[in-house]
Amino acid sequence: MFARTRYIDWAIAHYGKAEADLATSGMPLRRIDAAKLAELDLDAPTAPAALTEKVARYNDVPEAEALATLGTSQAIFTTYATLLSAGDDVLVEAPGYEPLRRAAEGVGAHVREVERPRRGGYALDPDRFASMMTPRTRVIAVTHLHNPSGVAADPSALLELARMAEARGAWLMVDEVYAPFAHPPVQGVFSRSARKIHPSVVAVGSLTKCFGLGMHRVGWMLAPAEVIRDARATLISTCGHLPSSHAAIGASLLADVDAYWSATSRALEGRRAIVDAWLARHPALELSAHPSGIFGLLHVPGATDLLPHVERWIAERGLLVAAGTFFGAPDALRLSWATLGGEDLSRALDALADGLTDAGLPIDA
Ligand SMILES: Cc1ncc(COP(=O)(O)O)c(C=O)c1O
Repeated sequence: MFARTRYIDWAIAHYGKAEADLATSGMPLRRIDAAKLAELDLDAPTAPAALTEKVARYNDVPEAEALATLGTSQAIFTTYATLLSAGDDVLVEAPGYEPLRRAAEGVGAHVREVERPRRGGYALDPDRFASMMTPRTRVIAVTHLHNPSGVAADPSALLELARMAEARGAWLMVDEVYAPFAHPPVQGVFSRSARKIHPSVVAVGSLTKCFGLGMHRVGWMLAPAEVIRDARATLISTCGHLPSSHAAIGASLLADVDAYWSATSRALEGRRAIVDAWLARHPALELSAHPSGIFGLLHVPGATDLLPHVERWIAERGLLVAAGTFFGAPDALRLSWATLGGEDLSRALDALADGLTDAGLPIDA
């Protein structure tokens, strides 16, 4: 059974409603150009195949190694449902993105957590994963960039994990939904998929976070051709095939991905500098993040569980920040600059500093 995801329930209740949003982890929605939409053949039976071809091209992998899905979420489910049997073990990272755990539990797997410690900069430590492997471990699930810390996975750590997975008859699933922030597409191609580093890597991703296109659910799974054949059977059993309208829109969005990326990079200009200047004024706070990412984990010294404070700030200040509680880091906040820029971002960060100070938490030294 698929248990409710506490974080997603909370996100649905609050995201998109607060005046000062420092929580949302993807770029704000962009509208599709109406003239382009009018040109698409939404009924074309060939649209799903055209989408697969575009997904493969965008990720720079052979078509036989690509499967289009409804967002990264369906790619995660499809990967688990294809590779796991009830009673198998899945390793997930802690802190981590809760649906990676719930989806594994939903298909009957046992989840074992592997720490990515704050003191180690939330780095992936293959030895920690090795120590948690059991004879029934079939999937190691990691995120790059890491949600919630925002840090990049070291390619050599990914390679080591992939080799370890192969040696033990398992797979390394790399969730790359945030990876284009670190490696933006060039001429419509994201050339750095972890799928290409080793045969035992399954990569999942989508256009959701980096391009403001999350509502269109354009996602994918990348894996060896024989795994993709099995995954297609999983997809056929659960939804037949993707809607032709979705596929036609998805192929068109992938064809225009450079333009969407340009809009993202323009929107983000100057934001990280605002965050860094704010941090410099509050030296007790410690932020982990990728230099080109849109969020990181803000460690608040002396904090225990920040969720009650976050809920008070939403109610009293219209200020929304993601409580680390939902990711297994209750003494931290996942701080995002995806939604706000300029003065609005500065004001929201100052409101957060006031909130932390009023909560009796030291932020200035
Ligand atoms: C690490 C990670 N993977 C997957 C998703 C879901 O992606 P999608 O909306 O494409 O299903 C999210 C959304 O927050 C995420 O943070």
